[in-house]
Amino acid sequence: MEQSREEFLKQFGGDYGYPDAPKGVDEMRATDFKRLEEMVYLDHAGATLYSEGQMADVLKDLTSNVYGNPHSQSDSSMAASDLITTARHQVLKYFNASPRDYKCIFTSGATAALKLVGECFPWSRESCYMYTMENHNSVLGIREYALSKGATALAVDVEEVVDLAKNHDSGSLYKISRHSNQRRDKNVLSHNYQNGRLSDISGNNWNIFAFPSECNFSGQKFNLNLVKLIKEGKIPLQQQGQWMVLIDAAKGCATEPPNLTLYPADFAVCSFYKIFGYPTGLGALIVKNEAANLLNKRYFSGGTVAASIADIDFIQRRNSIEQVLEDGTISFLSIASLRHGFKIIDMLTIAAIGRHTASLATYVRGKMMGLKHSNEKNVCTIYGQQATKEGDLKIGPTITFNLKREDGSWFGYREVEKLASLSGIHLRTGCFCNPGACAKYLGLSHSDLVSNFEAGHVCWDDNDIINGKPTGAVRISFGYMSTYEDAEKFLKFLQSSFVSLPVQFHNEYMLNLNSLSLVDNWSPKFVSDVQLKSITIYPVKSCQGFSVKSWPLTTGGLMYDREWLLQGSGGEILTQKKVPELGSICTLIDLELGKLFIESPICKDKLQISLLENLTVLSAEVDVSGQRYEVQSYNDRVNTWFSEAIQRPCTFVRCSSSTYRSYTYSDSRDRPCRDAQRKLNFVNEGQLLLISEESISDLNRRLSSGNGDGKQQLLVDAMRFRPNIVISGSSPYSEDNWTKLRIGETCFTSMGGCNRCQMINLYHNSGQVLKSKEPLATLASYRRKKGKILFGILLNYEDMDEDNEIVAERWLQVGQRVYPFTE
Ligand SMILES: Cc1ncc(COP(=O)(O)O)c(C=O)c1O
Repeated sequence: MEQSREEFLKQFGGDYGYPDAPKGVDEMRATDFKRLEEMVYLDHAGATLYSEGQMADVLKDLTSNVYGNPHSQSDSSMAASDLITTARHQVLKYFNASPRDYKCIFTSGATAALKLVGECFPWSRESCYMYTMENHNSVLGIREYALSKGATALAVDVEEVVDLAKNHDSGSLYKISRHSNQRRDKNVLSHNYQNGRLSDISGNNWNIFAFPSECNFSGQKFNLNLVKLIKEGKIPLQQQGQWMVLIDAAKGCATEPPNLTLYPADFAVCSFYKIFGYPTGLGALIVKNEAANLLNKRYFSGGTVAASIADIDFIQRRNSIEQVLEDGTISFLSIASLRHGFKIIDMLTIAAIGRHTASLATYVRGKMMGLKHSNEKNVCTIYGQQATKEGDLKIGPTITFNLKREDGSWFGYREVEKLASLSGIHLRTGCFCNPGACAKYLGLSHSDLVSNFEAGHVCWDDNDIINGKPTGAVRISFGYMSTYEDAEKFLKFLQSSFVSLPVQFHNEYMLNLNSLSLVDNWSPKFVSDVQLKSITIYPVKSCQGFSVKSWPLTTGGLMYDREWLLQGSGGEILTQKKVPELGSICTLIDLELGKLFIESPICKDKLQISLLENLTVLSAEVDVSGQRYEVQSYNDRVNTWFSEAIQRPCTFVRCSSSTYRSYTYSDSRDRPCRDAQRKLNFVNEGQLLLISEESISDLNRRLSSGNGDGKQQLLVDAMRFRPNIVISGSSPYSEDNWTKLRIGETCFTSMGGCNRCQMINLYHNSGQVLKSKEPLATLASYRRKKGKILFGILLNYEDMDEDNEIVAERWLQVGQRVYPFTE
């Protein structure tokens, strides 16, 4: 890393690391961000991080001072009021806004500030709400207020034709393309009343033009000369009336707050956690005095009225703009904390923060553009304006991209996110609440967007590729404390996880390799070397299972397997991912006694549950992995036992066998699916999971020879994967290609590979549940297929014979021969 660091510093040394500040970035990371350790945090556009020193200062401040409700005259109240006044000035100073011309209104965030403008703006039928396509949903949402008052809403694309910095006053250097006018049906409009009278329709109509100082999707910075051009009416398409300009600075102001003296916008909004991480739930509307006077607030509340009478329509609002617009008691302790955040920004200077973060983004962008597969095809598609200069300040410290395979197909962004999290890298995926920029950069038409939605895709789901096209992207973004090492670790991750190597380095057991010798017939005379080594039943989802020599099968798979589960007090399903303690609960079923025994290291007594117990049927249903089940509940004794065992309130429920439902995801073998004919207990996908000992041995060989996570004992045994059946005698991963198999006389259909998650990284040591990167990280390096990390196969039991009759009860027995079949 040393040589590349030197190269980086040669190129960016003047901008990187705060050379002129009392504390450089490395010292800052060592003293104020110790908690980051191995973590690479790259979602500063989502929320930047607070420093540990900042929090120590906040704690000291709040524990050594008494701040009271500012709506009073006591000393503690005055102390809070003084801090609020100082904070307002500090915010205005940050935006270089004169306190004579502007006011700082505290809100619960940028969104609340935008909503306040939308709600109180004097919209009329002649008004237009114009906004750039690149805007956050919180800005787009204003159009609901405009449209409901009969105004027009209009999205535009703004393209800067030449560098306006050299041509301050010219409006012709922008190319503005309009999208279609949006207008609500007159019949559904509410009447246009303001202050009790019909609003001014033909006279002084008011319009807003809204744009972000920096797009939170692509990082594109908008030229703030737009403010002047709009105010001076130099933009074509502008309609009659007065134009107000709103800058959404929520993203941009973390590294370059708009200068409101140079670019006197009417409204600017921000959230403070995006600037220095803490406090959350606090933002501001910076509003010009004339613009504030236009805002027509309906609601009144504590803090906003000078006088009101409870039982007649009489109120007198306060005079000051802040008091009129801020409802109730503002978040005075959060506001008191602002100065501890601003202290850091002042120490580093915002200009240096801009240069530092830009140097990292420019460096990474350049490296990403150079990444090539072995066939010379580009790996990264970066969205938005390309930076050209060293430390380019025209684009924010954000890089949004998608990755392509060697064959030109896309990696899904969820796959990138999952692998990044295994490498300790925190990034963001999706559309980042910016649907216009997302559609524009990904080339998604309206019909693509509608058909994606109709295909079931909604924000934050896992449908990252539909019809071969990405539905969103991956975003990394740098913050004031990001380092070169963060950037380098991210680049190494891209290189090792997504760049294809020349063919000779391909792994002999990569998925899809069909070179394995496979048994291809069902002949009973054929003697297979493959054997059933173990059978394990897990009666309670996420708890330990028990192994048996033989076990009966029913229509739902292995009898009693995953037939019970625990629900939290909010009805949520408890699994080891959320409640690792479940992993220490042991279970056993004695078929002869007809009992389920449950033991926990925490509870003195064993719990015994009769398998034949008559239970109350709950009307509520349970949702497990998208499937609805009706469940039966137990009495308080049972629930109390479990609540003690996992140290949180929970209820124990049993899948009600008469009301199984089935559900089909897909019939493709690449994707584990639910079979419409099958009945499933509380399993996530297929009825049974099969693991092969040979595949485990291969994995262990890789774990011990590779650079696995040294924090744990390296090797894993088959039980780590919670299999129902373990087989031995086949070659590693030959199970990938099996379509059916017979064990003794019993037939199963393969539903394909089992998609693994972080659950397999949990392990138990001296009664503690620990987590590491392995074995998922190693599996991710060679067992990835279509965004999934596959290990083991899922099986469904074929309970019908050739005449479609349910077969008589069958048993699996350890030692039985396994006959695989491929088609
Ligand atoms: C550009 C932009 N605008 C508005 C918002 C909304 O901010 P908040 O959620 O803090 O209200 C965000 C948040 O991500 C943003 O990035």
